[in-house]
Amino acid sequence: MSQDNRSPEGTEAGYGVVSSPPSTARKPVTVPQIRARKGGTPLVMVTAYDATFARMLDEAAVDMLLVGDSLGMVVQGQSDTLGVTVDDIVYHCKAVARGARFAHIVGDMPFLSYQVTPEDALRNAGRIVAEGRAHAVKLEGGEAVAPAIAKIASAGIPVMAHVGLTPQAVHAMGGFRVQGREHEAAQRILADAIAVTEAGAYALVLEGIPGELAERITAEVSIPTIGIGAGVHCDGQVLVCYDLLGMTADLRPKFVKRYDDGFARVVAAASAFCDEVRARRFPADEHTFGVRPRPMPVTGTG
Ligand code: KIV
Repeated sequence: MSQDNRSPEGTEAGYGVVSSPPSTARKPVTVPQIRARKGGTPLVMVTAYDATFARMLDEAAVDMLLVGDSLGMVVQGQSDTLGVTVDDIVYHCKAVARGARFAHIVGDMPFLSYQVTPEDALRNAGRIVAEGRAHAVKLEGGEAVAPAIAKIASAGIPVMAHVGLTPQAVHAMGGFRVQGREHEAAQRILADAIAVTEAGAYALVLEGIPGELAERITAEVSIPTIGIGAGVHCDGQVLVCYDLLGMTADLRPKFVKRYDDGFARVVAAASAFCDEVRARRFPADEHTFGVRPRPMPVTGTG
């Protein structure tokens, strides 16, 4: 479990921090609980990359936080996920682990951190769990990565698999395109889903595939499926936090529902700050520290 990093109200420097009382009713989400949700109440996974978002999403009672290599795009501003490193994932996992109290934390394995040899895969997965404090790792691919999944899982590290649209294969796919629309491609994805399940994965992300195929895979495999752009019949759903909050300016993929207009709201708040600073309306008296009054002189009576 991550350490509780909440500060007590007020510090020596006078920078007060308001913290909510610890929740006693909830317990940390575990791998056996996730497996037991197959066919039950859908699992909720959201990406998180820092402690503040992890804290908010944890408070919202998401089951799982994914420190996705999508951070290469939404945090680092790259055009794909290929440049993300194990060091990046470890760094962001540490931050998320400090912010979350109950959610199960999954660290994404970056491009080439698990494809070279199963030994290499285990070493990198071990860093994400030991240094990053993630509870599990996720990796992309099907039959080809089954030996890596088996190796990592045999060391006691839970592995979430990911088939269908696998963003690390963006060049092979010719872009971020829906996969498995044709019969043969759908059969290959089904075979991949079965292979990763047999290799020991505890859950499976299905990304960018037709709803009917996701429904078929969900019925065939014994582990929970977590969909993104894969329809309603999965055992759970995952979204990138910035997408669900409407914080991405230009990207509006069909599979994303925006639950807020975060981009416009942040721009409006920051514009209000700009206006108040320029008009000298901020900081006001209540935001300004004063000097302490001089202590009364002590008069002795002898
Ligand atoms: O990196 C990521 O955020 C992901 C999700 C989109 C499943 O892999």
